[in-house]
Amino acid sequence: MQAQVWALDQQRLMQTYRRQPVLFVRGEGAYLYDTEGNRYLDFLAGVAVCNVGHCHPHLVARVQQQAAQLMHISNLLLSEPQARLADRLCELTGMERAFFCNCGAEACETAIKIARKYANTHKSTPDYEILVLEGSFHGRTMGAVSATIQPKYQQPFVPLLPCFRALPRNDLSALREAFSERTAAIFLEPIQGESGVNPLTDEYLLEAQSLCQRYNALFMIDEVQTGMGRTGKWFAYQHLGLMPDVVTLAKGLGGGFPIGACLARGIAAEILQVGDHGSTFGGNPLACTAALATIEIIEQEQLCERAARVGNYLRQRLLELQHQDAPIQEVRGRGLLIGVQLTEPIARTVVDKAFEQRLIINPVGDWILRLAPPLVITEHEVDAAIATLQAVLREVRP
Ligand SMILES: Cc1ncc(COP(=O)(O)O)c(C=O)c1O
Repeated sequence: MQAQVWALDQQRLMQTYRRQPVLFVRGEGAYLYDTEGNRYLDFLAGVAVCNVGHCHPHLVARVQQQAAQLMHISNLLLSEPQARLADRLCELTGMERAFFCNCGAEACETAIKIARKYANTHKSTPDYEILVLEGSFHGRTMGAVSATIQPKYQQPFVPLLPCFRALPRNDLSALREAFSERTAAIFLEPIQGESGVNPLTDEYLLEAQSLCQRYNALFMIDEVQTGMGRTGKWFAYQHLGLMPDVVTLAKGLGGGFPIGACLARGIAAEILQVGDHGSTFGGNPLACTAALATIEIIEQEQLCERAARVGNYLRQRLLELQHQDAPIQEVRGRGLLIGVQLTEPIARTVVDKAFEQRLIINPVGDWILRLAPPLVITEHEVDAAIATLQAVLREVRP
């Protein structure tokens, strides 16, 4: 069956992803199983999605029950799961209203539309700017790509949406210089996951927030990758006690079920009105039930605390490898979102060899490994991953 599926994949799918020719048919906790019953330790978690582990029984039960009861009704009708999820997310984030969509890019599009309508209604210049950072990633739709300051994602698709102004990451003087009455918003990831797990400094985030207050600009935080407990708190901005105007979520929100959200407070929460924005599927009862169940699991199993604890352990074990002369330049990140900068451009080879050893990790370019396991991972599983990584790094070191 595996060979047949591989052939179909190669023939019939647009080849937008680099894939391993292994067919996975089952997942449980931190493990995936292929057609032969081989078990793989998953340190990718669907790219920071399966925070509660694969097929958590509570999530499965709630989704099954809701699927049998009511899947979709349209956003023109009242929905209990949607209202309850909006309420829970507002409690958790400090925001006041939610808009639901299907993925991270759509959540970021919503934030961008809020910033643009805010500028058109509250700024006196048509020449407004939304500040974004070099190395950012906000998704693949055209608005989100325009906000994603990485040439490889932008160049094939020019011309881009105007109004974005790119700033170098963590450069305080460039940040201060960029702000003016023309600034409608700044849109930031607290840790830039897709460009290699690059955290913003505390000073940078604090300064961005205070400049937003000074210039009446919206402080917009993209928590698509860092949210839902991954960095050791529900949301990464909470480590600093920040209070954004807009927060975007997706990935871990549905525990593997597609759902995105854009949350806002104050003036930003009132910008989008009837007819301004919409989504056929966004926030349907099934997706919202999956997200509610995911939140219950994160709470009951204290997965934020666990991400902080096991994340520290993982970082410490990686630093041990570095001290034992593994080709590691730097270990970055927070909680269970970790980037390992290598001293050689061997990331893809390391990832392929690790996969042969049944450990799933992810390369960012040639120099960086990204580790984003489910938050249910144990110290014992971390030890197993480190042992594999150590062996692979020894083998491939030039
Ligand atoms: C910070 C951030 N924003 C937005 C996105 C886009 O999310 P999606 O792939 O669900 O559209 C991603 C995806 O990696 C992301 O990491």
